[in-house]
Amino acid sequence: MAISELTISVEQCKDSAVNRVDWDNLPFGRVFTDHMLLMEYADGRWENPKIMPFQDIPMHPAMSAIHYGQSIFEGLKAYKHEDGRLSVFRPNMNAKRFNESAIRMCMPEVPEALFVECVRKLVAIDSNWVPNKPGYSLYIRPFMFATDAWVGIKPSETYKFMILLSPVGNYYSEPVRVKIESYYTRAAQGGVGRAKAAGNYGASLYPAKQAQDHNFHQLVWTDAKEHKYIEESGTMNIVFQINDTLITPSEEQDTILRGITKRSILELASSWGIAVEERKVSVEEVIQALRDGTMQDAFGAGTAATLAQIDIIGYKDEVFKLPAMENRTLSNRIKEHLDALKIGKVEDTFGWNFFV
Ligand code: PLP
Ligand code: COI
Repeated sequence: MAISELTISVEQCKDSAVNRVDWDNLPFGRVFTDHMLLMEYADGRWENPKIMPFQDIPMHPAMSAIHYGQSIFEGLKAYKHEDGRLSVFRPNMNAKRFNESAIRMCMPEVPEALFVECVRKLVAIDSNWVPNKPGYSLYIRPFMFATDAWVGIKPSETYKFMILLSPVGNYYSEPVRVKIESYYTRAAQGGVGRAKAAGNYGASLYPAKQAQDHNFHQLVWTDAKEHKYIEESGTMNIVFQINDTLITPSEEQDTILRGITKRSILELASSWGIAVEERKVSVEEVIQALRDGTMQDAFGAGTAATLAQIDIIGYKDEVFKLPAMENRTLSNRIKEHLDALKIGKVEDTFGWNFFV
């Protein structure tokens, strides 16, 4: 069946929960909207996409995703503009990355146009759930998992693609404290670090917990081989500002998630004439810049966290404090501009907003 023939059916929920939400107290990712999307893959094709009331899903205890981890996801956000229109930030980029993850995990691709239409239609149906408050948005979580009921190990022949929606506020409520990791590894060359594969996140929990026990929010991952080069931080890409230049680890190797927020920040900063370098970033040069005061700023970039300025960087037994937030002129400007662009308060000259 051609994609154009795949119409998304809709079963409306009978009792909307939207009026029972405590909008002033939204923990990240715990409140879900009235509807979800479900589409199934079997016999080599996607079939029967449907939007239905939010509900539990039945699963076979031998379902291969829970045994062998063929499971990938995406994260993107929808925003409400002052004129009431809704937009999603760069959904085609998520669709492309989702399919790159799918290929790496031996899973079927979801045609880009279908992925975007599934997102668009679900957000349109739950449009009254998109928060209308600065710093708030509707988090969109597309995901796919293997459903064969078989404990033998091979790529599954059946899958479910789903989308959930969750109104959210800020992921971090304060500037973040991070620690450069010099033992544990998030991703090795040749592994699955570039994919948004569920197992990457499971594997990060234990090392992150060690850091959290020492009052850090997150780790800064380094390369698996020598722990000499910076990769990314928790669920964010990382950007440093040293001597007026934005410097970030390049994505050439397959160990770093190709972040859409970071890409947007670099494109925006370049358009303002700011020097940008994507290259190998050594731990040594970061520590040197922290010591000699040339580190003007460091921040994480990610959909959930948006632009999260870093307050403290720990390395081995040392802790370095970064400049005061009011002196972070560039990252403050980028954050303000991006936040405003997403809700139509400044012109979207890049065409990043996709209207629902
Ligand atoms: N790196 C990791 C490991 C992530 O989970 C995320 C979040 O999606 C990012 C980076 C940032 O990517 P994006 O800006 O596309 O959300
Ligand atoms: C996102 O920013 O979409 C993420 O992946 C973070 C999520 C794991 C909470």
